[in-house]
Amino acid sequence: MSLPDDTETETEIQTNADIETRADIVLCPDGPMLVRGQAVIEDADGTQHATTRPVSAVCRCGRTSRAPWCDGTHKLIADGARSST
Ligand code: FES
Repeated sequence: MSLPDDTETETEIQTNADIETRADIVLCPDGPMLVRGQAVIEDADGTQHATTRPVSAVCRCGRTSRAPWCDGTHKLIADGARSST
């Protein structure tokens, strides 16, 4: 791939394309909220949790045993019993 005539490098162009095509936050139907990149999640008590993975799953069902992160428990909850929106 050749460099364009303007001042952007190939890396900057790739980063801009990623921003345009990849959401930073994705809400999974009946599941967690996926957070891409570094972020700080604040729970109901005001405790802050920094993400440590490229993509982190934040619980939205309220049933996880490792809050605020999703542990997969949402898969065991019957339809209609979820608290997420
Ligand atoms: S969303 Fe997965 S355990 Fe709550």
